[in-house]
Amino acid sequence: MASLSGENLYISYENISVINDIKISIPEGKITILIGSNGCGKSTLLKSLSRLIKPNKGQVCLDGNDINKLPSKGVAKKLGILPQGPQSPEGLTVGELCHYGRHPYKSFLSKQSNEDDEIVEWALQATSMLEFKDRPLEALSGGQRQRAWISMALTQGTEILLLDEPTTYLDLTYQIEVLDLLKELNEKFNRTIVIVLHDLNQAASYADNLISILNGKVYKQGNPEDVFTEKMISDVFGLNCCIISNPIDGRPMCIPIGKRKTV
Ligand SMILES: Nc1ncnc2c1ncn2[C@@H]1O[C@H](COP(=O)(O)OP(=O)(O)OP(=O)(O)O)[C@@H](O)[C@H]1O
Ligand SMILES: [Mg+2]
Repeated sequence: MASLSGENLYISYENISVINDIKISIPEGKITILIGSNGCGKSTLLKSLSRLIKPNKGQVCLDGNDINKLPSKGVAKKLGILPQGPQSPEGLTVGELCHYGRHPYKSFLSKQSNEDDEIVEWALQATSMLEFKDRPLEALSGGQRQRAWISMALTQGTEILLLDEPTTYLDLTYQIEVLDLLKELNEKFNRTIVIVLHDLNQAASYADNLISILNGKVYKQGNPEDVFTEKMISDVFGLNCCIISNPIDGRPMCIPIGKRKTV
């Protein structure tokens, strides 16, 4: 199985520091979920873990090697990413987008194989997108488009999958479907999955490992029972809340109080 970690990471944009000395180790074969307020550095951290951004200082290691020194195709076979708000060229169909996910497995000028077709079909079925295979992405609703991108991430068939807010634009049923699908991939195929999520209760329910980020630093990481506390939510999100036990899975669950008075 592929291992992923970051050591002593510092990242800044135009001299504004965004990630400050993060040490992170992604447990293999588990679901890790990153939470934190808008602008705290979650996407930046995820991009650095997938080599889309090179840290100013520190190192991201994939299987013990500096990810920025590994060949691109090798990295792409082990690690797939679905960035936040991805863009596609105009006219690209859902099926074509999914075939792009197979790119690392092809040699120069090689054609689509039957295996590629089968994987694309499976990914589209898994996300209920088969009926939209020949539709251009711009002719889809926001939620359907998001599911098309998730299909593409699945066709990459990597041991590690990083997803930045994969449930944005989805209605609640599809949010849960996507999270259930990721959990199934994790349990059945032992995939290591890292997700940025804004829904805190979904994060607490689906994470094996929960990482809360505050101002470009890890505030706390570990199992949801230890990390998901009233103090963490107050410190990280500035939100007054009450934690109860989720009646479905026994995980901690947050009831926001805000400025309301408790009865
Ligand atoms: N390309 C960029 N150039 C300059 N500043 C940037 C750039 N990308 C991000 N930032 C800034 O870096 C900080 C962290 O951004 P990042 O996208 O990592 O936050 P985030 O935690 O993913 O937020 P959100 O929950 O809103 O997606 C923000 O203050 C943002 O404005
Ligand atoms: Mg983000």
